[in-house]
Amino acid sequence: MEETKQFNKKVYVETMGCQMNKSDTERILGMLSHFGYEETQDPKSADLLIVNTCSIRQLSADKAYSAVGVWGKWKNEERKKELEGKPFRDIKIAFCGCVAQQDKEKLLKRFPFLDLVFGTNNVYELPDLIKRINNNERVCATNETPKKFTEGEIEAKYEIKRAKSLNAWIPIMEGCDNFCTYCIVPFTRGRERSRRPAEIIEEAQKAINEGFKEITLLGQNVDSYGKHLDAQKDYDGRDVTLANLLRDLNKIDGKFRIRFVTSYPTDITDDLIQSVQECDKVCEFFHIPMQSGSTEVLKQMNRRYTREEYGQIVKKIRTAFKNVAITSDFIAGFPGETEEQFEETLSAIDEFELDYSNTAAYSPRLKTRAAKWTDKFIDEETKVERLARLNEKNRQACIKSNEKFVGRSLEILVESYEEKDDNIILAGRAENNKIIHFKGDKNLVGEFVNVRVTSASTWHLRGEIAE
Ligand code: SAH
Ligand code: SF4
Ligand code: F3S
Repeated sequence: MEETKQFNKKVYVETMGCQMNKSDTERILGMLSHFGYEETQDPKSADLLIVNTCSIRQLSADKAYSAVGVWGKWKNEERKKELEGKPFRDIKIAFCGCVAQQDKEKLLKRFPFLDLVFGTNNVYELPDLIKRINNNERVCATNETPKKFTEGEIEAKYEIKRAKSLNAWIPIMEGCDNFCTYCIVPFTRGRERSRRPAEIIEEAQKAINEGFKEITLLGQNVDSYGKHLDAQKDYDGRDVTLANLLRDLNKIDGKFRIRFVTSYPTDITDDLIQSVQECDKVCEFFHIPMQSGSTEVLKQMNRRYTREEYGQIVKKIRTAFKNVAITSDFIAGFPGETEEQFEETLSAIDEFELDYSNTAAYSPRLKTRAAKWTDKFIDEETKVERLARLNEKNRQACIKSNEKFVGRSLEILVESYEEKDDNIILAGRAENNKIIHFKGDKNLVGEFVNVRVTSASTWHLRGEIAE
């Protein structure tokens, strides 16, 4: 380790993807801090620039390509200074994350100024990779098989540089075996694998000791956690399930919250619902992407449930929890989607009273099955028009959902404050992830307080501290 120490160097990371991607950034920063790289928010002052990319839609990938283009220009300017014998900065540029895992060596060819490309399975090799680029090697490390999570020992050695917030992301499983026909994730994150419960509990305990008030368990299909683990070897003979993991995490002392994302509808078992009911620290919140309201489209998407089955799961959850929020993701304009089928998506949002949905127009992704169905592609104009209608439906659904809570009291974790016309306006979240604004003392940031909801707007609630 000693020989790799690079004291007084600065690293800037631009993070473009989902929570898993953000969590990778925290691990990357933790590893780099071990050998002297300090994080900076100013890319112009950085010695090492890293873009951590997302490939879920073409738009996300394009954003990554343009970010590094600007950095390449800076590097060329420094190179010019070097050639002129002037003082210069030795900038290194790295490209990682899901686009790196997908494009591999092609990136080194496309962007001659890149020093390093590393994939989602190579995060834990960073000490060696950085050493090599600092010896002026250009390196591409994009293993198909994961090193992460299988080598707990390596992981344990490094601190995680968590973003300044009350919430600690904890990946519990990674990868996906579902191969939905539109989705790149199984290609960028590989097959499903779970971390051992003991390792997760230790990481959670540590986060709570450090003062975090919330832990969020992450996985592409968090509710299929433990599928490939061995109950005898890994969990004292108990079933390795998300439900049992939640029960164990709930036993950690202290006042804090536990969340988990993302759930696959049919992997939500009765035992999971029961565990959320049993565990006071686990939040009444479920993010369960439906993707389409049409059973026929769901079949084409290779989703393993019908519209009715999704509805049954939602009903079970709503019956079990008083203040629960259920959120979803939807895709507009999937290949072959008819106007009637699209309308089934709109009606699903109403019928299942979904509290909020992420929305996107279908974007063809290389290697995925649906990308080959070019004869069924929906034209751009129709996609844009459907997305606009979907967004409008979502907006109405949010207002309706928020209005349900007026008059109720919710426990809020205060996250931040803003000074407005001599008042301090606090912002926090309820267990169900609803954002609420209310007057209060700024010392309450980081505390739990009971708030009565007094009014609702589209994207947030307003309230007052309950006596
Ligand atoms: N594992 C989660 C979702 C991961 S990807 C699940 O099973 O639902 C996050 C969201 O991106 C998806 O829910 C989907 O709505 C959207 N998405 C994925 N691929 C897409 C594509 N090719 N075009 C548009 N949206 C897409
Ligand atoms: Fe993608 Fe489907 Fe896996 Fe979710 S379940 S990550 S949408 S392939
Ligand atoms: Fe994007 Fe990769 Fe996450 S493709 S959504 S960063 S898993």
